[in-house]
Amino acid sequence: MPDIPAVSRRTLMGGALATGVAAGLGAGTASAAPAAPAAQAVPPGEPAPPRGRGQRSMANVPFTVHRTVRVGLIGLGNRGHGMASGWAAVPGCTVTAVCDIRAERAARTADLLAFEGRPRPAEYGGSAEAYLRMLRHDDIDLVYIATPWEFHHEQGRAALLAGKHALVELPVATELDELWDLVDTSERTRRHLILSENCNYGRNELAMLRMAHDGLFGEITNGHGGYLHDLRALLFSDTYYTDSWRRLWHTRSTASFYAMHGLGPIAAAMDVNRGDRMTALRATATEPRGLADYRERFVPTSHPSWRETYVNGDLVTCLIDTARGRVIRAEHDVSSPRPYSRINSLAGSRGIFEDYAGVTSAGGGRIYVEPDHSGHTWRAFDSYRKEFDHWLWRKIGDDAAGNGGHGGMDYVLQWRTVQQMRAGLVPDMDVYDAAVWCSPVPLSVRSLAAGGRPVPVPDFTRGSWVNRRPGLDSHPGEMPPVP
Ligand SMILES: NC(=O)c1ccc[n+]([C@@H]2O[C@H](COP(=O)([O-])OP(=O)(O)OC[C@H]3O[C@@H](n4cnc5c(N)ncnc54)[C@H](O)[C@@H]3O)[C@@H](O)[C@H]2O)c1
Repeated sequence: MPDIPAVSRRTLMGGALATGVAAGLGAGTASAAPAAPAAQAVPPGEPAPPRGRGQRSMANVPFTVHRTVRVGLIGLGNRGHGMASGWAAVPGCTVTAVCDIRAERAARTADLLAFEGRPRPAEYGGSAEAYLRMLRHDDIDLVYIATPWEFHHEQGRAALLAGKHALVELPVATELDELWDLVDTSERTRRHLILSENCNYGRNELAMLRMAHDGLFGEITNGHGGYLHDLRALLFSDTYYTDSWRRLWHTRSTASFYAMHGLGPIAAAMDVNRGDRMTALRATATEPRGLADYRERFVPTSHPSWRETYVNGDLVTCLIDTARGRVIRAEHDVSSPRPYSRINSLAGSRGIFEDYAGVTSAGGGRIYVEPDHSGHTWRAFDSYRKEFDHWLWRKIGDDAAGNGGHGGMDYVLQWRTVQQMRAGLVPDMDVYDAAVWCSPVPLSVRSLAAGGRPVPVPDFTRGSWVNRRPGLDSHPGEMPPVP
């Protein structure tokens, strides 16, 4: 059964507005959306390609019920190996297969799970195509992909074609035609492909979402998010990113590679694909300075990186307009010295929330909402986090703290994904969210190539974005009993 969120003050407001938008749109197609207040005219977008034979929308499509969820892992480096124990710890979930092009990494993860007392998964490895052998087996329901970005599209696609659901690390693809291909393949195979956006399950992010839906910010007008993480030491490490794959992306193009950790939660709070949609994106980029400067100071001249030229701007900023006249600022910077931030700020006609404010980020955040506050003075977020704590954190927050990385949100993502599959629920996030949240990767390239002019954002839902539907603001639910 799909789980439907409680009707809140905000849902009613949003529903009325969304209906208004839809009414103004006739058939509700993207091209007919009211012009967002953009500084420059947006050139018309390419129309959405027509659906092929057998393709139908995946919006609101529940998983079939799985008694247990059998997971196959592809890519067992920092992330994939680190997530393995969490998958195995979720009630009703078993890791049945592990795959890495480096066979010894498959063995390492299998060893770890066996050491933890879990059933030993089958191992696949030794070639770039080993994952295809793994996908031929029918003891896998969900494939979790944590390989370098260049492999996500082909591996995600292959998982769907093999009849599995796929949870893919970000970005799910880096080109527009690849994003469309994943949407089409999901619609054709009737399998879900979901962005593994753990930050959408962050405790502050989910509280912010619930507050937005409850109307605390009034009419949402703008939001800001991003990925601001000084990765310089890791990018130049010879042991962290395998074959330096992540640094090499900075030699290829100027793009907002990885803003989804901040963009996803803001888009969710704005009900993007569920009553609103992104219409246009314009990008700016600073000069690329940080990586070359770091190399100059800290990397020996014998290091292979000295043959590289870094072209990606240190700070790439995307301004995204929505059909309901909102603006999102999404930022990406992994090349500059700075403390970590995903920004995570949401504002509207009644107030504002800013995460990552102040000198510590641990459970931080500040808020100012009318009528609770006046006098132009920020207040601590703590009491609001408590009041609007999402049911998932109330229910499994303690397990998450004991089982997962990133403050527990990794485990919340894993638990909820498995719960949805076991209970036969509609997933909180779907292929349309994955596509639009990752679209700033290619769209920032296009906008920058056009001198920073706005470029249209495709409507991957092919018009169904006008319909209100549940997302991450779900109803409390039980994990089905383990058979
Ligand atoms: N959501 C998050 O919080 C989060 C955190 C860290 C990393 N990530 C993402 O996870 C992914 C992996 O990052 P990482 O830091 O673990 O990188 P990594 O280099 O440590 O691991 C990548 C692994 O993929 C393997 N691999 C490469 N090609 C393969 C193929 N064809 N078949 C099977 N395995 C293959 C490599 O051998 C390596 O073990 C990236 O997409 C990254 O952006 C997400």
